[in-house]
Amino acid sequence: MLPNDETLFDKVVNLSKRRGFVFQSAEIYGGFRSTYDYGPLGVLLLRNVKEQWWRSMVQLRHDVVGLDASILSPPAVWQASGHLANFSDPMVDCRECGARHRQDKLDDPNACPSCGKSGSLTEAREFNLMFKTHAGPMVESAAEVYLRPETAQGMFVNFANVLNTSRKKPPFGIAQIGKSFRNEITPGNFVFRTREFEQMEMEFFVPPEDSDEWYHYWCGARMDWYLDLGMPEDRLRLREHDADELSHYSTGTSDVEFAFPWGWDELEGIANRTDFDLKRHAESSGTKLEYHDPASGERYVPHVIEPAAGATRTAMAFLMAAYDEEEVNDDVRTVLRLDHRLAPYKVAVLPLSKKPELIEPSNEVLGLLQPHWMCDYDQTQAIGRRYRRQDEIGTPYCVTIDFDTLEDRAVTVRDRDSMTQERVPIDGLVDHMAGRLPA
Ligand code: GAP
Repeated sequence: MLPNDETLFDKVVNLSKRRGFVFQSAEIYGGFRSTYDYGPLGVLLLRNVKEQWWRSMVQLRHDVVGLDASILSPPAVWQASGHLANFSDPMVDCRECGARHRQDKLDDPNACPSCGKSGSLTEAREFNLMFKTHAGPMVESAAEVYLRPETAQGMFVNFANVLNTSRKKPPFGIAQIGKSFRNEITPGNFVFRTREFEQMEMEFFVPPEDSDEWYHYWCGARMDWYLDLGMPEDRLRLREHDADELSHYSTGTSDVEFAFPWGWDELEGIANRTDFDLKRHAESSGTKLEYHDPASGERYVPHVIEPAAGATRTAMAFLMAAYDEEEVNDDVRTVLRLDHRLAPYKVAVLPLSKKPELIEPSNEVLGLLQPHWMCDYDQTQAIGRRYRRQDEIGTPYCVTIDFDTLEDRAVTVRDRDSMTQERVPIDGLVDHMAGRLPA
């Protein structure tokens, strides 16, 4: 890991493009600023991050269920949530060069960061970050709709549906992974802040008197998730918001922050949102959004603890945390020390040569491994270079089929981190790997 290396950011961006993790969107047309496409490796990494989140937040719990709500929604939702009125950033224009900036992110509030001109910035005005479009064939008569700027509101709007169909009662949660859209004034730092991104959010509905306890529980549980997946402890911290940072509806918020090359920055926010959202949607829609306990007869509006993480941002943080360079035989080896659960490919199958007699057993080995794990297959270039290519994309194991395989029906298994190699019989290979890789 190279946390203090000022070039780490460029190295990871470079590797992402060169090896097919992340591409600039619409690159052949000059690129579409601030949007990115996830390539063959990026899509696997991102899926693995989301899969691990889903596993810990939904699969391994009895008190959380899933949801996949629509991205388009009518203004009433955003009116009630407060987004139409408040989801904005202060924007300034430069009278000299026309650039627009977020005032609260300026190092020097009097000078334009684009052209450097002092005193050229206008007064700040609020810029709403939601993308608006029209549903229906005729723009003039069609209804205005919004692309969701967070997945959270889908959970609040469906609270009664889920409560009535899932047989859950507080404390219980609704989890969702999906795209969100924000017309950010200053997107940047690669996929850290983009206008289209993916979130992993969970709304946990609790009896009001238990909300503080659950808030602390989720702060701890979410920190543990990152650490368990290999984030180094010294590059992760939980930062509690000061009172003046809190949203008007929140009685407590903490951010999980990662030490990015530009400093500590947010991966996830864990907020005690009180009963704000359910009450607002109940008032606006006229639908009761409360829990009625049939045993005690008690009725109450649950309070909500919300762990809200960015999937795309977190995938990038895992890449940065995993990036390593080490000297091996007077050469520098780049290796992504990704946790096995996050690695895009778990195994690479590498015939020592392209000779036809090695291709048949290689296909057999690939066929044995593929039902269990995502595998790469590569038969060109010297074996040493192929090992390096797999190290660079974080593949935990390489399996090499050589001419001895034809005699002993065994293959060489090489470990990414230690670079040690061992001979394993083909017939015991799946069991051997199962002891080392996630199911
Ligand atoms: N429902 C609460 C909510 O949306 P947020 O702090 O605005 O809270 C949660 O967003 C997470 O979503 C952030 O911690 C971040 O990881 C991710 N996120 C937010 N805006 C983003 C953007 N423009 N680009 C990439 N990720 C973003």
